[in-house]
Amino acid sequence: MQDNSLPYELVVIGAGPHGLIAAHTWLELYPESRVAILEAEEEVGGTWAKGRIYPGMMTQSPVGKIEFSCYPMPPPETTFLQLMSGSHVSAYLEAFSQHKSWAGKSLRDRVKFKFDVDSVSWAEIDGARLYTIRSSSGESVTCRKLMVATGLTNIPYLPAFKIEEGKEFLPPIIHCKYLAKNADFLLSPAVQKVVVLGGAKSAFDTVQMLINGGKEVTWIIRADGAGPACMGDPKPPPIFGLKNSSELVSTRFVSKLSPSIFEPVDAWARLWHQSKIGIAISAFFWRLITLKWWTAAGYDRDERLLPLKPDRPVYYVQTLGIANAADTWETVAKAKVVRKGIERLSGRDVVLSGGEEVACDALIACTGWDAKVGFFSTEQSAGLGLPVDLKEESVSDRKHWEALIEEADKEVLLRFPRLEEQPAFPTGKGRTSSAKLYRCMVPTNPEFNDGSILFLGHFITRDTMTLAEIQALWAVAHMNGKLSKKTEEEMEEDVALVIAWRRRRYLGDGHTFLFDGHEYYSQLLRDLGINDVRKSSGWREIFSPYDVHDYRGLIDEYKAL
Ligand SMILES: Cc1cc2nc3c(=O)[nH]c(=O)nc-3n(C[C@H](O)[C@H](O)[C@H](O)COP(=O)(O)OP(=O)(O)OC[C@H]3O[C@@H](n4cnc5c(N)ncnc54)[C@H](O)[C@@H]3O)c2cc1C
Ligand SMILES: NC(=O)c1ccc[n+]([C@@H]2O[C@H](COP(=O)([O-])OP(=O)(O)OC[C@H]3O[C@@H](n4cnc5c(N)ncnc54)[C@H](OP(=O)(O)O)[C@@H]3O)[C@@H](O)[C@H]2O)c1
Repeated sequence: MQDNSLPYELVVIGAGPHGLIAAHTWLELYPESRVAILEAEEEVGGTWAKGRIYPGMMTQSPVGKIEFSCYPMPPPETTFLQLMSGSHVSAYLEAFSQHKSWAGKSLRDRVKFKFDVDSVSWAEIDGARLYTIRSSSGESVTCRKLMVATGLTNIPYLPAFKIEEGKEFLPPIIHCKYLAKNADFLLSPAVQKVVVLGGAKSAFDTVQMLINGGKEVTWIIRADGAGPACMGDPKPPPIFGLKNSSELVSTRFVSKLSPSIFEPVDAWARLWHQSKIGIAISAFFWRLITLKWWTAAGYDRDERLLPLKPDRPVYYVQTLGIANAADTWETVAKAKVVRKGIERLSGRDVVLSGGEEVACDALIACTGWDAKVGFFSTEQSAGLGLPVDLKEESVSDRKHWEALIEEADKEVLLRFPRLEEQPAFPTGKGRTSSAKLYRCMVPTNPEFNDGSILFLGHFITRDTMTLAEIQALWAVAHMNGKLSKKTEEEMEEDVALVIAWRRRRYLGDGHTFLFDGHEYYSQLLRDLGINDVRKSSGWREIFSPYDVHDYRGLIDEYKAL
């Protein structure tokens, strides 16, 4: 039994992919350390925990892209164009948490389940930072280093619906986080008519689950928002022997066609993003992808699908989904899609703007997530560079950052002149400020630039496990003082550059960088002094898709530096 009164050397909050690989990486480098993982639920896996797998849940990442390079995934029994069931990932993460022990304890042995972190405080003790982490049930642990890996899809966001006076809304309102928990009820005969709200990937999955269960679905996507998600066609173009469209965007060649702030300003970047011919080729490529994906969906062939056509081309995609079932489009075409807002709820009815009433037995809100880290106060969050509610952001903070971002925007346009041109996009829908984390992980505030705290997974890309694995190594190196130290000013400039670029590249202050994983991983590897050019020849480096195997052995390479 470990003595909880002694501080842990490292505490990781969250036992999802990011938390698990972070603890693993630390223990590979410091096997005797006292490490604990705090997890609110009763299982590991986070999004992929058994209890969150709903009927029909499939990955958007193919085989070779949703596993850690240090622990090969057994081949899934069935796949659709290399995509697999959520349960397969769930079993993989469970096995990963038990596959290895350090000082006699596996990762799973170190998880404190049902430890729902409620608050974190800190103090200087004996010249070093000591964090105290408290759970909602009153338990507490202390540690010297703290990694927060609580994910961006954990705190459900539910809009405040207007309820008609005297007409309580009777059907249950369920956020999609609880789709798996409510699946039996939703698929039972007690439920015949369902309203689904939201236009992104969770809404697509929810609608498919319900239609496949024989339900009548009205799907509401608000008219004044970002519109329906762009849904990628998983079929690859017939070139280079690619098995899945994810492989196409995982080649350096294609990733270079996306203007990424994480790439160095080298000859490639100048060719594709600053020369007229390069800009024209890159624009042509993105138009082809839009054409391919929209044709595969069939928006213009089937009028039932027309309201699901994205408002902007793929290049400016805000949130991406992959049509990860063979019959995605035939299935969703059976829903009635309405591009309107909800005026109010009344009795059994959802009343739409314009007055149309839609009777239902359940309302499912696929309305996204709160990006805040709930257990830090607003003041703590602001100091740590975490998102805060826009209405609570201090005027001086906002002014400070907006001035930096305005300056950084000039640099963005110099590097990527094409981003000057912006499509119409509804602004003013954001609820929180952007995270201001150096390398998307570290607070810039000198108070926290001592390597004692950082945040993992504050960024969604197409291949979470690789992101998690490389961030984990960078994080452990940073926390142990192995990376070159940056001043507050240098870090702030870098953060402002990423925000300014994101606003132009993906429109708005979100946290999804869909086509930039590659360049970001390379940036972190360069910081670590590890070779980011990982293929065996120049040709392969450019045209062969990257997957987890290319990153195998990173920890050993780091140890050998
Ligand atoms: C339905 C769905 C499907 C997805 N599919 C893909 C995909 O195919 N490919 C891909 O690359 N990405 C996908 N994503 C993105 C997804 O966010 C990542 O796959 C991944 O799960 C992120 O890992 P994480 O560890 O950062 O967060 P999570 O997996 O969310 O894990 C965070 C953990 O922190 C715990 N936690 C949160 N708050 C507290 C607290 N206060 N105290 C203690 N513990 C806490 C949670 O319980 C959870 O276990 C998907 C997301 C969703 C929602
Ligand atoms: N099978 C899978 O692999 C899978 C399944 C689900 C999710 N995911 C991933 O998980 C991440 C999150 O996806 P998500 O779909 O859960 O969330 P999301 O991308 O944040 O989308 C939230 C949706 O809710 C809408 N919304 C927000 N507030 C609203 C309001 N007040 N009224 C009406 N609509 C509102 C948004 O519309 P506006 O744009 O108008 O704000 C948007 O359509 C993505 O990376 C996604 O790819 C993957």
